[in-house]
Amino acid sequence: MANSGESLCEAAREGDVEKAISLIDSGADVTYFDKEGLTPLMHAANHGHSQVIKALLDAGAPWNALSPSNVSAGDFAMENGHQAAFDLLLNTGIQAELILGTIARKENAKGKSDSDYLADRVNFSEDKVMDSKSKAVMMAWEKPLMEAHAKAICSKGGDMLNIGFGMGLVDTAIQQYAPTSHTIVEAHPEVYNRMLHAGWGEKVNVKIIFGRWQDVLSQLGSFDGIFFDTYGEYYEDMREFHQHLPQLLKPGGIYSFFNGLCGGNPFFHVVYCQLVSLELENLGYSTQFIPLPVKDCLGEEIWEGVKHKYWQLDTYYLPVCQCIEDTE
Ligand SMILES: C[S@@+](CC[C@H](N)C(=O)[O-])C[C@H]1O[C@@H](n2cnc3c(N)ncnc32)[C@H](O)[C@@H]1O
Repeated sequence: MANSGESLCEAAREGDVEKAISLIDSGADVTYFDKEGLTPLMHAANHGHSQVIKALLDAGAPWNALSPSNVSAGDFAMENGHQAAFDLLLNTGIQAELILGTIARKENAKGKSDSDYLADRVNFSEDKVMDSKSKAVMMAWEKPLMEAHAKAICSKGGDMLNIGFGMGLVDTAIQQYAPTSHTIVEAHPEVYNRMLHAGWGEKVNVKIIFGRWQDVLSQLGSFDGIFFDTYGEYYEDMREFHQHLPQLLKPGGIYSFFNGLCGGNPFFHVVYCQLVSLELENLGYSTQFIPLPVKDCLGEEIWEGVKHKYWQLDTYYLPVCQCIEDTE
């Protein structure tokens, strides 16, 4: 006789909600992984059985479990065009991250900070900057994205702020718009020295502030365009930065950030795009995502020698945020 986990997977595949509920009520494990490494929720999502999905989620099935090939239930729904199933999973993901996510993320980040990265050596080459663990701090394939970010934040001219110099790609692009002023905050001593070496300190409209953005906020004024792209930090850090936007962004100003949120999984990326846009909305900002295809600039060879492939999606969603009052 099949075990109850297998039976639940079967009910999920068949969309038999009554059987699924009865199995759950008699103790079937909603977190069960079958021999293919799939959960009942993944089976239900794959076939678009929304009622079963709802029953499983109500019983505590994990929305963010991954199959051996890193596919989540939401990815299955998305790949197969099951809109209602997708919406259910998306809302569950957003709610979970909104309520429990903050606590969980804080727990995960406890004791860790970017101070490790900032105290370590970095390695510069023509096409990337790497940390001491061979993880990419910044890569040249992002150049077109950085140019698009610069275009977005410079669209009204004025005073620009960039947090995180990296390879200077976004700053080089910002300079092309001849902003009134251009402030760059950079915390890594080697990146900072390299900036100086490359002549960034001599540009008339450029002001470099060395230090972590968290520590230099009082030295910043207010800006017409802001871009945020750090390394070795967490979603919580960016969230904290967003709390300062009302002071940092002038009325009518434009804010953007590197949107690498969950760049390894299409569904989690959607969840985090929605999450960040909800959190920005609560602060009074509307977010528009501009889709940019990136598949063609991302050959396998690009990742040679890079430990973590931080981006695996075909489309980049460039966020453009403005005060809601300015858009009305
Ligand atoms: C991904 S790179 C930025 C790439 C940049 N957008 C470009 O176009 O080349 C991140 C940069 O942020 C810097 N950084 C990391 N944590 C920081 C912090 N708390 N404050 C300021 N800069 C930080 C890193 O040293 C690194 O140079």
